[in-house]
Amino acid sequence: MHLDQHVSLKPYNTFGMDVRARYFIEPKSRSEILTLLNYRSMIRMPFLVLGGGSNMLFTGNFEGLVIHISSKGIQWKEDVDGTVLVTAEAGELWDDLVGFCVGKGWAGLENLSLIPGTVGAAPVQNIGAYGVEVKDCIESVHYVMTDSGKEMHLKSGECQFGYRDSIFRNSLKRRCIILDVTFRLSAGDSEEKPGTAHLKLDYGTIRKELEDQGISSPTIADVRNVVCAIRRRKLPDPAEIGNAGSFFRNPVVEGVTRDRLLSTFPTLPWFPDISGKYKIPAAWLIQQCGWKGFRDGDAGVHAMQPLVLVNYGLASGGQITALMQRIIESVQNRFGILLRPEVNII
Ligand code: EPU
Repeated sequence: MHLDQHVSLKPYNTFGMDVRARYFIEPKSRSEILTLLNYRSMIRMPFLVLGGGSNMLFTGNFEGLVIHISSKGIQWKEDVDGTVLVTAEAGELWDDLVGFCVGKGWAGLENLSLIPGTVGAAPVQNIGAYGVEVKDCIESVHYVMTDSGKEMHLKSGECQFGYRDSIFRNSLKRRCIILDVTFRLSAGDSEEKPGTAHLKLDYGTIRKELEDQGISSPTIADVRNVVCAIRRRKLPDPAEIGNAGSFFRNPVVEGVTRDRLLSTFPTLPWFPDISGKYKIPAAWLIQQCGWKGFRDGDAGVHAMQPLVLVNYGLASGGQITALMQRIIESVQNRFGILLRPEVNII
């Protein structure tokens, strides 16, 4: 494990921001992460834990220590009730884990295919797509406190998961490093039991796309393929155009607010939220304000999915946040709704 200095973070963030870390270290195993915490002097300076850098916008150099988690490994054991407990190290690429589980025929993660980032980042913002949130499959999260070096486990129910939210974004923010995550998956597909009961097909166009392909009894792999195809069509590939996926969270509003909006904007889409409130698609609000496909220099709003802000090349973090502000203001003025970024602005 080397401590490097003045390292460009361009390869480590999907927005492609060319900022520098004063110090940079890359632990490649759980024990290297724990060893690192023994060097108190390092941890006393401001530090930033980086996984895939797919939910971050850097607005300047980072004058502290960037810890790029690169621990790899997946282990599993079958449980008595036909479920499988899969433990993945924090540095595993999220989609590698999904592909591995789908390959084994274990159901649960397939709707979360192709989400960029690492396993360690998944519980932090409770990643979600196509009707599934990762909390639905998480059994427990294993982490270490950076001040005491103490290892801890939290059961899923203790992680305070919410929409794109968890304890790791709140009271444990900057206080711990996630070491590994354990998922409980259904042993799912088999020759005798190809059943679809455990598959979640009702979000968006998943079922229709399967039907269009003549698939009436889909396997987990079929669902993964369809989700990957939809994402490739709608979302920009960070390898080609810098972006951090959804830039904003979908706002959650009270029933009275939704009704007030519906009286002025009858086509407003809304979805019930688990909190009993209503989720309004930020993509729709942004599109109504005319931002879809907007471009100012190298900062832009994606033409297929206006929830995604993009860096066409040399946009700075400041230019992206200036665009963010303009979008927030126009949505606020037109709808009276305050958009909140989902991306971490550093
Ligand atoms: N919509 C528009 N215009 C558009 C796209 C969408 O008006 O160009 C409206 C439509 O009303 C549509 C609704 O938004 O019915 C929902 O669109 P979509 O299913 O694409 O989902 P989303 O709410 O825009 C969320 C996640 C995505 C995830 C998709 C699919 C958030 C912040 N984003 O987006 O997550 O892939 O659902 O499940 O919840 C990410 O977090 O990086 C991400 C891409």
